[in-house]
Amino acid sequence: MKVKQTTDFFKMKQMEEKIAMVTAYDYPSAKLAEEAGVDMILVGDSLGMVVLGYDSTIPVTVSDMVHHTKAVKRGAKNTFIVTDLPFMSYHLGRDEALKNSACIIQEGGAHAVKLEGGAEVADKIAALTEAGIPVMAHIGLTPQKVGIFGGYKVQGKTAAAAKKLLEDAKACEQAGAFAVVLECVPRQLAEEVTASLTIPTIGIGAGRAVDGQVLVFHDLVRFGSERVAKFVKQFADADTVMRNGLTQYVQEVKNRLFPEEKHTYTMKSEELAVLYG
Ligand code: KIV
Ligand code: NA
Repeated sequence: MKVKQTTDFFKMKQMEEKIAMVTAYDYPSAKLAEEAGVDMILVGDSLGMVVLGYDSTIPVTVSDMVHHTKAVKRGAKNTFIVTDLPFMSYHLGRDEALKNSACIIQEGGAHAVKLEGGAEVADKIAALTEAGIPVMAHIGLTPQKVGIFGGYKVQGKTAAAAKKLLEDAKACEQAGAFAVVLECVPRQLAEEVTASLTIPTIGIGAGRAVDGQVLVFHDLVRFGSERVAKFVKQFADADTVMRNGLTQYVQEVKNRLFPEEKHTYTMKSEELAVLYG
């Protein structure tokens, strides 16, 4: 299959074909995502929480993102890959944003970068787009601002906040973003934003009236995610499957049931005779 392009995502919006996106952080998760037929993979900085065990996405670095993007790329050679610009990798100025995005694209192999923010990062979106780097914006609940929000909460619930969010979405489109993630916003607002933009909206906790959906891989398959947000649907239970397998392994080792003959190598008796004389 051919790798989709940003123009394919515009067409999908026009044709009202939903875009299915999921995060992936390594070779096997990327391979599974591609085999399942997702339209785009996000190497999200959520990797800090779901695979590295941090409390937030704040400690994640550009080199973490490059490292994981490389693995994802090897697992999903035919899928459009978007990689998050992590905390403070695009705030220090356009040059910094360009340099870090170049790393992610050239070294990591991503097709596009994602950054959090609306009007306040429009200059960075424009600089990256001008340099030929496709940018996905991310507004609503932006986890890199958890320290300001004071937790992971629904955004855009008041008329004033909703108006600001709509303006942010338009600013992202105007600056050249090819798509925008709407995280944790009321469905009515997501619908309004989607209708107001020509670029696709990708929702997470934004209801159905958006152009596509994204979920965190580990939330979707229930792998290590103890508590999940209201907007998550767990489509599988990998935790239970894996825990059962591991528990049985421990028991079989203790009870001398594993390994069996079929898992074992042997030497010919002639060789043994030589060995022991
Ligand atoms: O890092 C991430 O997984 C994300 C998605 C939740 C959109 O940014
Ligand atoms: Na992210």
